[in-house]
Amino acid sequence: MSEARSYPRHVKTDAGEIEFRMMARADEAAVLAFAQKLPTHDLLFLPRNISQPKVLSAWVNEIERGAINSLLAVKGGAVVGCGTLVRDPHSWSPHVGEIRMVVSLDVRGQGVGRALSQETFALALGAGLEKLSVQMTVDQQAAIALFESLGFKAEALLRDHVRDVDGRKHDIVVLGHNVAQVRAQMEAYGLPGAVQH
Ligand SMILES: CC(C)(COP(=O)(O)OP(=O)(O)OC[C@H]1O[C@@H](n2cnc3c(N)ncnc32)[C@H](O)[C@@H]1OP(=O)(O)O)[C@@H](O)C(=O)NCCC(=O)NCCS
Repeated sequence: MSEARSYPRHVKTDAGEIEFRMMARADEAAVLAFAQKLPTHDLLFLPRNISQPKVLSAWVNEIERGAINSLLAVKGGAVVGCGTLVRDPHSWSPHVGEIRMVVSLDVRGQGVGRALSQETFALALGAGLEKLSVQMTVDQQAAIALFESLGFKAEALLRDHVRDVDGRKHDIVVLGHNVAQVRAQMEAYGLPGAVQH
C-alpha cells in the first residue's frame, strides 16, 4: 500500500512545514508523549485509550502485522498528529476502511488535520478500498466539518455509546464515504484522474 504513495512527504501548513511519514516501532515513545498530552475527551472515538503504554505497544504490533497503517504528522521532530487506516481483510467488510485521526491541541486550526485527512484518504484509495467510515463524539464539530467537506455523510448515531473517565456517557456519530460510487461518478463525467492519488 505504501508503494502507491511515497513517504516522507512535506506539506506547508499555517503551523509551518509538516513531515508526513508512516509510523513504525521506533516512534513508540514519541507517539506516547503526543497521546498523553491530548485531552482524554478527544480519545473517546478510539476503541482503546492510546495514552496507555500497553495499548500503544499493541498498536505498533498491529502496524507490524499489516492490519493498521498509521501516518504521523511531525513538526520539528515532535509528533503533532496521527492518521490511521484500519482494515480487516478477513471480515465480511474487506472493502471497508476506518479512518481515525487526531491532532495535538497546540497546532489545531492551522491546516494539519486537513492535510493529514487528505493523506490518509489517499492511502485508503491506494489500498483499493470501496467504502470509508469515521466516527467521533457528536461534539467534535471540527472533525465532523472536516470529514463532511471530504464527502463523508452521517450514517448512524450511537446513543450513550462511550463512557468517559468520569462515568459520563457520550453519543457517537458514524460518517461514511462510498469511495467506489464517487469514483464511478467521476469516471462517468470523464474525470478518472480526479480521485486518483
Ligand atoms: C479533527 C481534528 C483532527 C482537526 O485537526 P485540525 O488540525 O484542527 O484541522 P484543520 O485546522 O486542518 O481544520 C480542518 C477543518 O476542520 C474544521 N474546523 C477546524 N477547527 C474548527 C472549529 N474550531 N470549529 C468548527 N470547525 C473547525 C474546518 O472545517 C476546517 O476546514 P478549513 O480548512 O476549511 O478551515 C482535531 O480537531 C482533533 O484532533 N480532534 C479530536 C479528535 C477527534 O475527534 N477526531 C475525530 C475522529 S476521526
